[in-house]
Amino acid sequence: MKNLLQINASLFAAGGQSSKLGNAMVEAWRKAHPHGEVSVLDLAQNPMPHLTAERLQAFLTPAEQRTRTQRDIVAFSDSLIEQLRAADVIVLGLPMYNFGIPSTLKAYFDHVARAGITFRYTPNGPQGLLLDKKVYVFAARGGNYAGTPLDEGKRDAALTQALARIEALAA
Ligand SMILES: Cc1cc2nc3c(=O)[nH]c(=O)nc-3n(C[C@H](O)[C@H](O)[C@H](O)COP(=O)(O)O)c2cc1C
Repeated sequence: MKNLLQINASLFAAGGQSSKLGNAMVEAWRKAHPHGEVSVLDLAQNPMPHLTAERLQAFLTPAEQRTRTQRDIVAFSDSLIEQLRAADVIVLGLPMYNFGIPSTLKAYFDHVARAGITFRYTPNGPQGLLLDKKVYVFAARGGNYAGTPLDEGKRDAALTQALARIEALAA
């Protein structure tokens, strides 16, 4: 059975333009995969805590030496990674806010980017360990660039930032 994960990063939750674009894709996918499973992670409704030194230390501490608090921190990250691993298809609604990706989405990537688990370092840069995913990104932004050389065919800053992270994790 195919599994689709929809991640909405709009601060307007399901009302955001990027979420609505993602919804159109999800609806088409549902029709094509009537037995498929869809889960939704809405980052406006489930805000991600920022990465802190305490959280990073929990990741770096060997499993058998972790405190209760560190185990909880790692379990939170593990559950997000499991959700990603289980997905064959990922639909990301991506708004552009203040010249880049939403901070909630950056925080999300900070919980799922774990060296040795979702990517590894190689002499040629990071190599993603989340295999065989199809990722669709639905980017929304304001109209200020319309008709300028920064429009059409060029990746905007948010798209560039999101794709760099997706490409680092998903092979
Ligand atoms: C706080 C905020 C900051 C924004 N910053 C930018 C920006 O830097 N560049 C841009 O092109 N549009 C910007 N916009 C416009 C949004 O990209 C646009 O409204 C888009 O539809 C947002 O996606 P959403 O509707 O899915 O939330 C901004 C909008 C908001 C609310």
